[in-house]
Amino acid sequence: MKTILVTGASSGIGAETVRYLSKCGYNIVMVARNIERLKEVAFQVDKDSLIIPYDLRDLSSIETIFKKCEENELVLDGMVHAAGIVQDTPIRTNDIEIMQEVTTIHYYAFVELSKYFSKKRYSNDGSSIVAISSMASVLHEKGMCTYSAAKSAMDAAVGVMSKEFCNRSIRVNSILPRMVNTPMITNLGYLDSNSVKEALDPIQIAYLVEFLLSDKSKHITNAHIPVGG
Ligand SMILES: NC(=O)c1ccc[n+]([C@@H]2O[C@H](COP(=O)([O-])OP(=O)(O)OC[C@H]3O[C@@H](n4cnc5c(N)ncnc54)[C@H](OP(=O)(O)O)[C@@H]3O)[C@@H](O)[C@H]2O)c1
Repeated sequence: MKTILVTGASSGIGAETVRYLSKCGYNIVMVARNIERLKEVAFQVDKDSLIIPYDLRDLSSIETIFKKCEENELVLDGMVHAAGIVQDTPIRTNDIEIMQEVTTIHYYAFVELSKYFSKKRYSNDGSSIVAISSMASVLHEKGMCTYSAAKSAMDAAVGVMSKEFCNRSIRVNSILPRMVNTPMITNLGYLDSNSVKEALDPIQIAYLVEFLLSDKSKHITNAHIPVGG
């Protein structure tokens, strides 16, 4: 059975993806900072999952995630990068520290994770990487300068990786959701209940993630798929 590493596994899209993939029979490696929430999600799934608490702002030690997998005799077949934070700030009040944090998680950490994932000792040939990008990557709305730029950078990296990793048949794709009903959205505080009701259920994203990880999509790479109508 395939083993998939999911970042952002403690909440929202990542947690829903863990639950759905586990139901489909995948083994899961879960990464996020909050160990209690990771344990709660692990408790909700049938199969044993490996929990690796990690703060992705620490770029220098990202290989330890993959070394932990190796110690547990796990060679990966897929990776889903769902960790993320949002910044909604007009440029006039931009905060450089938040800007660095957003860019680090969505872009730098994604590239570092993929660098190690693509090594033969950590992943099997024919593996699949799925990046959770956003429609913000292409819709440049007010307040979203850093978030949009970080997601565009992520999508550019997906394109480059799909070419650089194809000698190992590693496919790389991204999903661009519109609004999804997760704590990221509800914590923003300024959305009315109707907007939240109209938001997508995270399971809709999990279905597409599973398709992109599976052999059902074995000829699809460098696709950037919008979801949300
Ligand atoms: N919700 C939406 O409307 C929407 C739309 C388009 C795209 N997206 C994207 O979808 C992805 C998932 O978002 P979500 O809506 O599921 O948000 P969420 O419920 O807030 O979950 C975010 C996840 O990221 C993890 N995370 C944040 N900072 C981290 C760090 N420094 N190190 C490790 N993990 C970290 C969090 O875990 P810990 O706090 O435990 O570390 C959590 O598991 C994000 O990339 C987001 O940009 C969301």
